[in-house]
Amino acid sequence: MLKLWCLPLVLCGSWCAVSAVPMQLSHFMTLSFGAARGFARWGLNSTHVEIELTFPTTGWMAFGLSPDGGMDDSDVLFGYVDDTSREAVIQDRYLEQDPATYRVNFQLDDQQDWKLVYGMQNNTHTIMRAARKLQTCDKQDHPFTRDGQNVIFALHPRDPAGKTGPIIKHSARGNSIIDFGEALPAINAAKFHC
Ligand code: HEM
Repeated sequence: MLKLWCLPLVLCGSWCAVSAVPMQLSHFMTLSFGAARGFARWGLNSTHVEIELTFPTTGWMAFGLSPDGGMDDSDVLFGYVDDTSREAVIQDRYLEQDPATYRVNFQLDDQQDWKLVYGMQNNTHTIMRAARKLQTCDKQDHPFTRDGQNVIFALHPRDPAGKTGPIIKHSARGNSIIDFGEALPAINAAKFHC
């Protein structure tokens, strides 16, 4: 049976305007992790995106906007359902990879922009639904824009050791290009950070 952890929709500020009425997730895309498959569904309005990810894991999952399909300079939505407490955790993170040493830095953003709508897991899959402004003006984020965007995604079968503990490298990952939709406003990529 799916366990559901839900954020009461009254506990928020400007985001309430979007999520008091859940957005219709009218877009869909399959995400390939080699043999395994994940799914992304999303909806948009003029200011916000709401996305639901279904990944074949009971550990951590991540989905990021990437400049070129690689890890460096990626803006990542990271989440998991804690196997003990059943709490759904989502975090706004920023991924860097040093081009010389390939060392990875996967840090929490100073400004947390993703808001959890709900998260749940069964014995094989985790579902996370979250909402965010299309353009957050955070230097550690990228905006959702009208043109096809590089996305990366990854998972691991184990939860991280706590909300700020180390994260074990993915066991499966992939990248793709998603056209999030014509409905998006034209955001000037040169003004990513407002
Ligand atoms: C603990 C954090 C992470 C570490 C240590 C890590 C490490 C690595 C390493 C060593 C590679 C090289 C190829 C391989 O071994 O598979 C790689 C590739 C890759 N990783 Fe990560 N990774 C991390 C987090 C993430 C996250 C969160 C995502 C997605 C949101 C991601 C997506 C990818 C992708 C798409 C590639 C292939 C990149 C390419 O083809 O250029 N990684 N990662």
